[in-house]
Amino acid sequence: MRSFCIIASAFAFADCALAQTATERVIPTLPPQINALPSLTPTILDNSAPDAQDCPGYIASNVVENGHGLTADLTIAGANCQAFGNDIADLVLEVNYQAKERLNVRIYPKNIAPANSSWFILPSHIVDQPEWDGKTTAESSDLKFEWSNDPTFQFRVLRASNNEELFSTYGHVIVYEDQFLELVTNMVEDYNVYGLAENIHNFRLGNNHTQTFYAVDAGNSIDRNVYGVIPFYQETRYHDGTNTTSHGVYARNAHGQEWLLRESTIAYRTLGGSFDLYFLSGQNGNGGSSALTTIAQFQTGCIGTPAMQMYWTFGYHQARWGYENISVSQGVVDGYREANIPLECFWHDLDIYDLYRDFTNNDVTYPLPEFTQWIESLHENGQHYVPIIDSNIYVSNPKNESDTYAPYENGKNLQIFIRDPTTGDFYFGNNWPGFSVWGDWLIPSTQEWWTNEIVNWHKGTPFDGIWIDLSEAASFCAGSCGNGRLTENPVHPPFLLPGDPLTFDFNYPEGFNISNATEAASAAAASASQSSVLSASPILPAPTTTTQGRTEPTPGVRNLNYPPYVINNVQAGHALGKSSIVPNATHNDQYNTTEYEMHNLFGLQISNATYHALLELFPGRRPFTVGRSVFAGSGKTTSHWGGDNTSTWGSMFLSISQAFTMMMSGIPMFGADTCGFARNTDYQLCSRWMELSAFFPFYRNHNVKATIGQEAYRWSSVAESARRAMAVRYSMLTYMYTLFYYAHTKGETVMRALAWEFPNDATLRETYNQFLLGPSILVTPVLVPNTETVQGVFPGIGEGERWYDWYTLAEVQAQPQENVTLSAPLEHINVHVRGGSILALQQPRLTTRDTRNTPYSLLVVLDESGKAKGSLYLDDGESLEQNATCLVQFSFADSCLNFSSEGDYHASQPLANITITGLADPVNGNNTHQRRDWAHHGGPQHSSLQYGGTSCDTSTFDTSYDNGVLKVSGTEKYTEGGAFQKDLNLCFEW
Ligand code: NOJ
Repeated sequence: MRSFCIIASAFAFADCALAQTATERVIPTLPPQINALPSLTPTILDNSAPDAQDCPGYIASNVVENGHGLTADLTIAGANCQAFGNDIADLVLEVNYQAKERLNVRIYPKNIAPANSSWFILPSHIVDQPEWDGKTTAESSDLKFEWSNDPTFQFRVLRASNNEELFSTYGHVIVYEDQFLELVTNMVEDYNVYGLAENIHNFRLGNNHTQTFYAVDAGNSIDRNVYGVIPFYQETRYHDGTNTTSHGVYARNAHGQEWLLRESTIAYRTLGGSFDLYFLSGQNGNGGSSALTTIAQFQTGCIGTPAMQMYWTFGYHQARWGYENISVSQGVVDGYREANIPLECFWHDLDIYDLYRDFTNNDVTYPLPEFTQWIESLHENGQHYVPIIDSNIYVSNPKNESDTYAPYENGKNLQIFIRDPTTGDFYFGNNWPGFSVWGDWLIPSTQEWWTNEIVNWHKGTPFDGIWIDLSEAASFCAGSCGNGRLTENPVHPPFLLPGDPLTFDFNYPEGFNISNATEAASAAAASASQSSVLSASPILPAPTTTTQGRTEPTPGVRNLNYPPYVINNVQAGHALGKSSIVPNATHNDQYNTTEYEMHNLFGLQISNATYHALLELFPGRRPFTVGRSVFAGSGKTTSHWGGDNTSTWGSMFLSISQAFTMMMSGIPMFGADTCGFARNTDYQLCSRWMELSAFFPFYRNHNVKATIGQEAYRWSSVAESARRAMAVRYSMLTYMYTLFYYAHTKGETVMRALAWEFPNDATLRETYNQFLLGPSILVTPVLVPNTETVQGVFPGIGEGERWYDWYTLAEVQAQPQENVTLSAPLEHINVHVRGGSILALQQPRLTTRDTRNTPYSLLVVLDESGKAKGSLYLDDGESLEQNATCLVQFSFADSCLNFSSEGDYHASQPLANITITGLADPVNGNNTHQRRDWAHHGGPQHSSLQYGGTSCDTSTFDTSYDNGVLKVSGTEKYTEGGAFQKDLNLCFEW
């Protein structure tokens, strides 16, 4: 190990000692073959696969209209075709005008044996099932359903106002088999479709993309399946740049599935379940439709709006895998404080555990009670603490009495783990700690067990939130590989763990300019030597796989582990059971539902269970859970991080489109591993990423073991970037919080694509190198190395929109669609404020608590007609049910600033000052008569203030006016009881 450390120090590795400590467990090691499954050809790449469109389709009969829709029978229109399963001859069609903006089309088997119901019907207690509002009819709906039996059943959904066809299966058959459903919709030319999260892909999905959905433990799988499944897309159509329309489609189905986006169609294929489609009109009250309205309709009407988060969670979070003991952890906390960089929350990865087992404490490196005291010291400083909990539970070694692991024994007593159908015993897969089991969330006692484990663990590890990992759920072997071998526990997984010997990442960071040839040669030699030792190592021979094609449908049989249709699962060999609990594992509910149906829901369920456990622990407090696998509706209880990305510029860029899809999916508390998880980062990338993520709702730096440390204080440039970007973020924390309030109450988005805010500009349809935070803040990050400039557009500028530099308050000079080159030195991120906004700001401090205690200031940024507005939501920052809240509305017009509040929540901080910008001659456009007057006067001659209806003497105001920016201070005197306690009216005469 010594030589690794010598090389590592040449890289300025700080974690060299890790190599010597992470070797506790080496034997017995599972062979890699234990995770080997036959290699399959994905059906989309298999030329010999049948074309399901050759199936006969269905004929509708017994059509009954019921005022808010219709029901009908669908009968197969020919012989079974057995494309990728057994055809279901008799189906039910239900069409429901559920709400003005939402139409539901359900197709499911007519005769479902109760024991098979979970094959087809996704229960509403697991995933919300939207229903009829009790009043909408076909006549009052925004949408129109049409169908035909010619030549077989086909349907389409139109916009009622103008017959715009939104979805149409005309010309295609519907296929319904026990392991395969297919429906194809026609698309307009060059269609613009967004969403289908989770993906790591361009924002606009394009017309040649297959989105596979199967929750998977694979980080950074560009264009493939990732951790989450949210089958919802939003489509935008540009009609000559004047009346853009938008609508959405949500397919409520949790099975493995694929969406084939092709030139003129989208084919939707699933491995089971039912068609349960929700069409959203995207229409607002004015008859127009928009992406933002469509997204809001998806959240408010289909999956539920996101949880409101605690105020502190918007602070900066630091994690890493590899904080080896308490003093290393304290060193990180100190590092931030000494560098004057805010640190709100410290996160621990698996390092705190004893042998990777959930709910334990490593007696040597994180002993109690020292560790408890250490966490409490964070709390005393206004900081917070979040540890990881893995989804797997270690199985006690039955032959070793000293290896009794209580969380397993407790669960075993309650019989709450997922089962292996071949033995009827628990399903014994493999994960970090060895052979493991997984909680079965379909039975209520699992919640009780989980809550107890969390509550008990909190006594020694007083955390403030929980990080749920590996919730796909990941298993490192194929099948119940622990059967008959539990006495080998704690067995080592079939691969080296990061931090084990031979796992150091010697690679230079991407784009690193090698200036020291000797050092580079030395690193290359160390890397080569590591690889050769590794390849010669008897413990890790190369896995062997066999070749096997897809299975044939068998009458009366469902082949769960190898369904006839092979989705393009990103795991090697594509089998569903690869690196996961196999599909035929069973649950303990009355139907013994299989993992085949439940796989994509594990993440949703464990996050929900954790949410409820936290509620038990902290009654009445908003639970903070961050989960890896998510499903539609997860945002009601959990936040999400982007998983195992890499320290590359491309990975940083793609985090923006990934974030957009999460905003669309009702999971706005999203962030990526800042500076990158895998591989070694460098100061440039980390600087830029610290700047970028400062404008993501969830802001956390995290990386893997056995790479260099990347805390913000490690490089002076990164430290400075972080300080500056965090100063902007912390100043506008109330704005971020207010955006969350609107996300929670109305399904509004927090981060926004430019195309959403400026829907008529077709040139923005693919843009994600820039984004907005709410309606008012435009962020233009640097996403490539070795540059001091960045290009960005200023949307809407041709229609009179105005943009102001956050730092200087100067108005931007730009032409419509011009790609403006902006100065962007390494420590600077471009942030612009949109004319027409009013933001309530506070002074950035090292914690959100201290920031929240500073006086307010108002930033008023005028639009082209000299007006602005904004709002501010205030509450206690943590209660689930608030006793009192306060919503402040700001407006500026005709030289007067007004605000008034509603609600009883009392924020005691005064209003220190007001800044108004945009008073000078606008640089773009001509609608300027009023402001020209102001500019000519060189500032206001007189001001009058009414606060709480009482006239106040403004002679003690300190005002300054320069180049269109008016600054007024001295307002504390009147507002010392709390800035927004009373209504304010402040007018200027020029
Ligand atoms: C996988 C997670 O995605 C990553 O964030 C974590 O560091 C490792 N598991 C180890 O717990």
